[in-house]
Amino acid sequence: MRFKLFIFVLILTTCLFFGCGNSEETSSNTTQTQVTVTFNDISSRILQPKCVACHSSSQSSGGVDLSSYTSVMRVVIANSPNSSSLYRVTSSGSMPPGGPQLSASELQTIYQWISNGANR
Ligand code: HEC
Repeated sequence: MRFKLFIFVLILTTCLFFGCGNSEETSSNTTQTQVTVTFNDISSRILQPKCVACHSSSQSSGGVDLSSYTSVMRVVIANSPNSSSLYRVTSSGSMPPGGPQLSASELQTIYQWISNGANR
């Protein structure tokens, strides 16, 4: 009898300390999707190294300047990545012209930034 009680208490305390079920897994997934992408990330990781050579204020190919937040917002519709030419031309592979195409994670970063409101 004593032994059964001991097992019961042991299971209970294990649950208290480590959590029962897969609640731990769920919370780590939530943290991952909550990472906020900022304009700074987009600019320093993608636009500056891969686009600004052809899209700056002095060299604005196709009238597109990707060197500042204000000018980038002319090719972005906040919350609508699929209607934003910034996302459309990169996901279709037409920019940068002659490749190499942006990686899946770079495209994902742009998509997420626009979906979350394209904040500065
Ligand atoms: C080698 C030069 C070059 C690079 C690098 C380049 N572009 Fe372009 N881009 C152009 C030219 C030229 C045009 C205008 C002609 C055209 O639409 O093909 C253009 C047009 C565009 C347009 C307007 C397209 C439209 O249909 O309205 C967007 C948006 C754009 N580029 C985004 C980007 C992005 C984002 C990058 C970086 C991932 C990039 N470009 C890299 C040369 C470049």
